[in-house]
Amino acid sequence: MSKLKLYEYPHPILKQKAADAGEVDDEMRKFLDDMLETMYECGGCGLAAPQVGVAKRIVVIDIAHEDEEPAPIYMVNPVIVWRSEEKKVCEEGCLSIPAQRAEVERPAAVRIRYKDYYGKEQELLAEDFLAVAAQHELDHLDGVLYIDHISRLRRQMLLKKLEKYRKEGN
Ligand code: NI
Repeated sequence: MSKLKLYEYPHPILKQKAADAGEVDDEMRKFLDDMLETMYECGGCGLAAPQVGVAKRIVVIDIAHEDEEPAPIYMVNPVIVWRSEEKKVCEEGCLSIPAQRAEVERPAAVRIRYKDYYGKEQELLAEDFLAVAAQHELDHLDGVLYIDHISRLRRQMLLKKLEKYRKEGN
């Protein structure tokens, strides 16, 4: 496995709509392994292919706590097929927008259809934090970042803080 280069805001690939990922073969599985390793090394709980420079509809997620067994979820060509009416607010961060966080409102639960690590069709009911992580990552496949869901004023403040953080040599 190898660690992949992480693309950060405002790289244009993060605003692009990702293409169909195609079939799950050995080459794709190697990429899924590399994505997962990259996500773990960066300390994230989700990663979408555009964040490592690949504009394809591929996502990895693991919301297990550090003291728990890893529980990776691999999603190829994921589609949200149902969203709850109920909404929830949760604080989010993103590996492509380092050291920043903001509260985002999203549906509290979603049902997602996707192909897994073996190319098998799966359906998952995501609730609680998994619902947040999954919607955040799937957004990346449509070129949407969590900061696109907050007010313009809050986004400007957050991006100013990001600029300051980077100027301080991070
Ligand atoms: Ni993100």
